[in-house]
Amino acid sequence: MQQIEKYKQEIAAAEANTPEAVEVFRIQYLGTKGLLKTVMGEMKNVPNEHKKAFGQVLNEFKQFVEAKFEALQQAVGGDANSASDKSFDWSLPGSFVPVGTRHPLTAVRNQIVSIFKTLGFAIAEGPEIEDDWHNFGAMNLPEDHPARDMQDTFYISQNPAWLLRTHTSSTQARVMESQKPPIRVICPGRVYRNETISARAHCFFHQIEGLYIDENVSFADLKQTLYFFVQEMFGKDVKVRFRPSYFPFTEPSAEMDISCLICDSKGCNVCKHTGWVEILGSGMVHPKVLENFGIDSNKYTGFAFGMGVERICQLKYQVNDLRLYSQNDVRFLKQFTGVV
Ligand code: DAH
Repeated sequence: MQQIEKYKQEIAAAEANTPEAVEVFRIQYLGTKGLLKTVMGEMKNVPNEHKKAFGQVLNEFKQFVEAKFEALQQAVGGDANSASDKSFDWSLPGSFVPVGTRHPLTAVRNQIVSIFKTLGFAIAEGPEIEDDWHNFGAMNLPEDHPARDMQDTFYISQNPAWLLRTHTSSTQARVMESQKPPIRVICPGRVYRNETISARAHCFFHQIEGLYIDENVSFADLKQTLYFFVQEMFGKDVKVRFRPSYFPFTEPSAEMDISCLICDSKGCNVCKHTGWVEILGSGMVHPKVLENFGIDSNKYTGFAFGMGVERICQLKYQVNDLRLYSQNDVRFLKQFTGVV
């Protein structure tokens, strides 16, 4: 017991100014081979009648050493792993991980694609650098068509002519080249035109092409498919109308308008005060296009359509300037957080 009193004095005087020194103290006094263990071991040499009293002394000694250890620990700033450390608030929530935002065009493309997927359309993709045949020739675009003009098309080379595709209809050509009917594909992608950049025109934009070829496909199928798409995309209240049009690769051809969602058809500059906005071109695949790929046009018919993703996005989210899509302004992009 006298020895314990001496140890107490020694411990009371102990100093430790660094976490390493505190650790040395812990090993020396509280470690598995430390002083406390040794002193505890003395219990077995104590006669039975004194065990109780000695036990009390030992207990006190243990508390004394532990209290000293904690005091030293706190003096050097505590131990981050220890629950006794008061400087760390364990109830704080985890660190904040910001949610990313999908680009609005990606989100709208995904929405369009998933609507057509429910109708059994598969996705097909083609190259952005195309040859003259897939972009123009195979699609029945005559030699003198204005889209072939240097003004509209970015040519990479003249002879042979390589170019940046001007529409996703070129993917139609690639699909018909490699697949036999029945064909039911949706082809999203970026397209390029040599336009002066403004709020309404850009030198690159995005289209989604659709193609459906089988026996007995009719214009009624085309209309119903596109009507279903519009209702899924914009809701049940939207109205549609088809206008006769001309595309070299379809016959007959039609453009489809929907009632203006920006002004509720009251008249605004998006619908040019008509209450209607054009959203796509479409038609029955021209027999010549089918025959270009060895598809028997007496047996098979098909419909096709092509829409601009930027236009759909404009109507859905009221984006009124095409340039916003590629300026990477986070204030614009963050408005679409949560849009999937
Ligand atoms: N390729 C046309 C364009 O870029 C859009 C289009 C119209 C695609 C009619 C089609 C279609 O498949 O049948 O303006």
